[in-house]
Amino acid sequence: MSSKAFIIGSPIEHSLSPKLHNYWLREHGLTGSYEAINVPPEYLAKTVRALPGKGYVGGNVTIPHKEKVMMLCDDIDQTALAVGAVNTLKFEHGKIKGYNTDVHGFTENLRSGGADFSVIKSALVLGAGGAARAVIVACMKNNIRVAVTNRTFERAEKLGKEYGAEIYNWDEKEKHLGEFQLLVNTTSLGMKNQPPLEIDLSNLGAEAVVNDIVYNPIETPLLKTARALGLETVDGLGMLLHQAVDGFEMWFGKKPEVTEALRKYILDFL
Ligand code: ATR
Repeated sequence: MSSKAFIIGSPIEHSLSPKLHNYWLREHGLTGSYEAINVPPEYLAKTVRALPGKGYVGGNVTIPHKEKVMMLCDDIDQTALAVGAVNTLKFEHGKIKGYNTDVHGFTENLRSGGADFSVIKSALVLGAGGAARAVIVACMKNNIRVAVTNRTFERAEKLGKEYGAEIYNWDEKEKHLGEFQLLVNTTSLGMKNQPPLEIDLSNLGAEAVVNDIVYNPIETPLLKTARALGLETVDGLGMLLHQAVDGFEMWFGKKPEVTEALRKYILDFL
């Protein structure tokens, strides 16, 4: 029997997930399918409840539904509860189960990008949106102390309280850089058609790793600056690729691999 999976979001036309999952389906010679479905917010509940009856085994959830979909789940795993967002659904025995694979995706991307977790004791997270939450949970799982800085201080403060993270003023972030072995940009700055992230990295230690979760362009202005200073950099594409591994395995029964060939294939769509 061939399994059917989906990604729901709005807008969804530019999602790379169908390319990614269909690549793996072809690679494994599976007859299943993975398709993008545009679901406006007002149709979320109705659509999610109808999907199991249409033969879907599960799928991904993206902007703007990652938080709201939690209300529709019968079970939510610990990681998704910690983040406060579900990006992966599995329909099983008449139940809707919710997971968050962004946390694993972030960790695996850093690991495969060469980051040494035994050296990283503390991380500075730039931004305080949904992506920051997954990054903070991933750091905490790896025993990395986290500090957060955000343009809107109140949002950083909220995360600080929730996760026990230190908080810094956005305007003073450079001053503290020397305390961190990992710097992660979770803001939209540096993304195609967005202003660059302007930050002076000269206070970072020589051993620091700089990661941008923005992957379009693949080398953001932040990564370019970091590379020019001789710092280790990890781009954001691997997070997208690695977060998809667990979902694919859940729905299609095979654990796929994140390879250089897959990375090259997806890069062509950016
Ligand atoms: P996501 O869920 O993808 O993380 P989000 O909740 O919209 O998205 O968060 C976007 C992040 O980028 C926020 O931290 C936002 O800062 P604010 O909380 O102050 O809005 C940050 N961001 C967006 N544009 C920015 C800019 N021009 N300067 C600084 N930070 C910016």
